[in-house]
Amino acid sequence: MSPLSPDTLTSRPADAAEKTFDAPGTTDVPATEPVLALHDVRITDRVTDREIVHGVTFELTPGKAVGIVGESGSGKTLTCRAALGILPPHFEVAGGRIDLAGTDIATLTPRQWTDLRGATISAVFQDPASYLNPAIKVGAQIAEVIRVKQGLKRRAARRRAVELLGAVRLRDPELVYGQYPYELSGGMLQRVLIAAAIAVEPRALVADEATTALDVTVQAEILDLLAELRERTGLALVVVSHDLAVVAHLCDEVLVMRQGEVVEQGETHAVLHDPQHDYTRLLIAEHDSYGLDKFLAPKEAS
Ligand SMILES: Nc1ncnc2c1ncn2[C@@H]1O[C@H](COP(=O)(O)OP(=O)(O)OP(=O)(O)O)[C@@H](O)[C@H]1O
Ligand SMILES: [Mg+2]
Repeated sequence: MSPLSPDTLTSRPADAAEKTFDAPGTTDVPATEPVLALHDVRITDRVTDREIVHGVTFELTPGKAVGIVGESGSGKTLTCRAALGILPPHFEVAGGRIDLAGTDIATLTPRQWTDLRGATISAVFQDPASYLNPAIKVGAQIAEVIRVKQGLKRRAARRRAVELLGAVRLRDPELVYGQYPYELSGGMLQRVLIAAAIAVEPRALVADEATTALDVTVQAEILDLLAELRERTGLALVVVSHDLAVVAHLCDEVLVMRQGEVVEQGETHAVLHDPQHDYTRLLIAEHDSYGLDKFLAPKEAS
């Protein structure tokens, strides 16, 4: 697959001035306004002329986390890709509206997308190895993203990359900087990807099954990391997971999707405690067997 692509993950125009952390950008929105808002979004496959996603609506304000759960093929990833402006070639948003930092994405030019990706919205997907170039040291790949998108000089970009590797709690950032993807575990690679995704301090991060392939301990560490980023920086999250426990752990609001339809949506605790739709009940029943309880039950002294 392609090397870590600055455009997929993060982005600032190559000619942007060095950005300080509080520099006002063109994408700034007041703290209460949604960073991302989907209104009745419908996605169609142009080849078959079939509607695949039948209307998704949610608002993501700073610091908020929205979860999307549901069966395989229900349209979770397509919904995320639509919001990121990276739908597969023959898919299109055929109805509804997606606003990113207050702008209808349908009106965005490629150049405006380049400004928004990374700085406003960023993403981490499953299978981190496929987003990294196997022949280039991971640190250099992050530094390149920073250099190209934030306009930092090489030395500063390197410093910032090491800092980010530390921020995602890789134990020896300097060492990891100089390692190749094959030298790192899946959990370490996913952290590298998260480091790249947050490099330009996005307002919203889409994590699509970002921890699915990882073992339970590493998964928990990465979820904690996302929760911490959210707390500390007001990062807003879209968390796609087949795992209700992950969503229960992280999200304020949850959408339950089945066959392209949002069958239930609401405050996470309410939906998981008092599901209204049979399909949600089924999902919860399936999860009860492996420990959703501990995320839902109020903590008792033991
Ligand atoms: N690149 C693509 N080409 C053709 N069909 C696609 C493509 N991506 C998705 N689809 C189809 O669109 C529908 C929704 O897919 P999507 O990837 O959004 O599902 P999902 O909810 O993310 O599933 P999963 O839990 O397995 O990741 C599925 O029927 C899928 O087969
Ligand atoms: Mg998916």
